[in-house]
Amino acid sequence: MEEQDLKALSEQLMKPSGERGIEVANMMNENNIGMTVNSIENLELKGNERILEIGHGNAGHLDYLLKKAEKLQYEGIDISELMIQEAVRINKAPIANKQAVFTLYDGTTIPFEQESFDAVFTVNTIYFWSDPAAFMNEIARVLKKGGRFALTFAEASFMEQLPFTKFNFTLYNLEAVQQLVDQAGLTIEKTDLQKEHIRSKTGEMVEREFVTVVIKK
Ligand SMILES: C[S@@+](CC[C@H](N)C(=O)[O-])C[C@H]1O[C@@H](n2cnc3c(N)ncnc32)[C@H](O)[C@@H]1O
Repeated sequence: MEEQDLKALSEQLMKPSGERGIEVANMMNENNIGMTVNSIENLELKGNERILEIGHGNAGHLDYLLKKAEKLQYEGIDISELMIQEAVRINKAPIANKQAVFTLYDGTTIPFEQESFDAVFTVNTIYFWSDPAAFMNEIARVLKKGGRFALTFAEASFMEQLPFTKFNFTLYNLEAVQQLVDQAGLTIEKTDLQKEHIRSKTGEMVEREFVTVVIKK
């Protein structure tokens, strides 16, 4: 891939838009489903809980999440208008049943009151947080006391091998995440390191290492 194609791919991963954005979102949902499932499993959801997902992409995984327990309430927020449209198109039934709502927001201020959620999760978005410490504080604010936050991402040592991450991505290791968690007054409860085989965004099969950090308020 040429530099300009890598840059365009990176922009789509950060904020999908246009016709290409729909394709990129389908590919993300397929390629990242192992990470998303791991994030959801680590939340250990219980009946009647209210859950926030940050940066859901096309939310092709919502049916899976809603089967984890009875009467779950899901809220999804994303910075991409296209991803909100796609998530709404793909998830008509849970929206009609009032189990799911998708909301466009500015990527900075989470549009909910304090202590709104039992569980929060996000997969492959930390690379794009513009002010990571302030954003971790926002997550802490909307979590109920005793609430859980599953933060799923691939560490810098893996991500820096991917040619498109030199554009737009900020890469993290576990030490940097520990600092973000500490300054927000939260606690890391578990670090779940995983390996899987996937086809990379540029076509080759790669072994991907990723981690879900389970954080508690
Ligand atoms: C790389 S995609 C990941 C999508 C999905 N979570 C996955 O892992 O397949 C990043 C998604 O997060 C959204 N996004 C980027 N920055 C965000 C932010 N600060 N807050 C919420 N969503 C964000 C993008 O619009 C996109 O839908």
